[in-house]
Amino acid sequence: MSIQDNAKKLPIGRRIVRALRSLVGLKNDPIPVEHVKLNRSQYKNIWNAVSVSENDAKMAVSGYIDEDLYRQMGEGTRDMLQSYVGIGPDDVVLEIGAGVGRVGAALAPICKEWIGADVAENMLGHIRQRLAAFDNVRTVATSGFDLSAVPDASVDVVYSTVVFMHLEEWDRFNYIKEGFRILRPGGRMLVDNVDITSDLGWKFFEEHCAVPPFERPAQISKTSTPQELETYFKRAGYEAIEQVRAGLWIITYGRKPAAQEQPQEQPAEQQASSPAEEAQAAG
Ligand SMILES: C[S@@+](CC[C@H](N)C(=O)[O-])C[C@H]1O[C@@H](n2cnc3c(N)ncnc32)[C@H](O)[C@@H]1O
Repeated sequence: MSIQDNAKKLPIGRRIVRALRSLVGLKNDPIPVEHVKLNRSQYKNIWNAVSVSENDAKMAVSGYIDEDLYRQMGEGTRDMLQSYVGIGPDDVVLEIGAGVGRVGAALAPICKEWIGADVAENMLGHIRQRLAAFDNVRTVATSGFDLSAVPDASVDVVYSTVVFMHLEEWDRFNYIKEGFRILRPGGRMLVDNVDITSDLGWKFFEEHCAVPPFERPAQISKTSTPQELETYFKRAGYEAIEQVRAGLWIITYGRKPAAQEQPQEQPAEQQASSPAEEAQAAG
């Protein structure tokens, strides 16, 4: 499910559309009925339930289980990350919503450490098995809302791909803020979502309109506008924010400002006072 591939192969390949349709229950009815009754915010229950076996997890993540396709798509996402935020051999990289490690398998060989963070412990178990050959892979379980297990300023690149569509807006923003917190100064963050303002994104949205309200799966995909994601990045404090529209997708990335030198404390008599005093002093 590589955005880079999507960008190159416009209009988007039918296989990817089918995978997305399958993911949200529009095809093959892969979602057990009880999930319909779950609240959308019960991320842990929803995603643990669909990821008990490796194959079920792969179907839930991507809509296919073919390992060759997995490798190819993982490499496509790696290339996309390389070209937008850069991945170096000294970088600690963290993925929010890492699934079964589709992207991690392509990144672990080229970075210092790859951390797969996911709300579903079952997904993390599949990552540990599938990526067991790498000694620089670590997994972290999240609450579904934050990255509290990850220390401040400990990571160089944070990204989340094919995940925001399943999250409430508040939780999207909170992960972008959490990314900012765990990034070192100068670190980079990238996220993507389906872009409702694109023709393909609109088609995707319309297809979801066809799902009867009371049959909507809890994790049904919801789109973003470019402005929504840009706003989150701005409000969280990122700089050098860029956006790429790639067919179905809107990709947004930015940088945590480099550490600034703390200004020397001024002697008491030179310290700034109230606006009224400042105005008086200015004459
Ligand atoms: C469609 S899959 C994408 C997996 C992976 N990013 C990839 O592209 O292969 C969505 C993933 O997000 C995880 N997820 C869903 N809600 C989450 C949340 N609130 N916090 C963290 N991970 C979440 C799911 O468990 C699942 O692994």
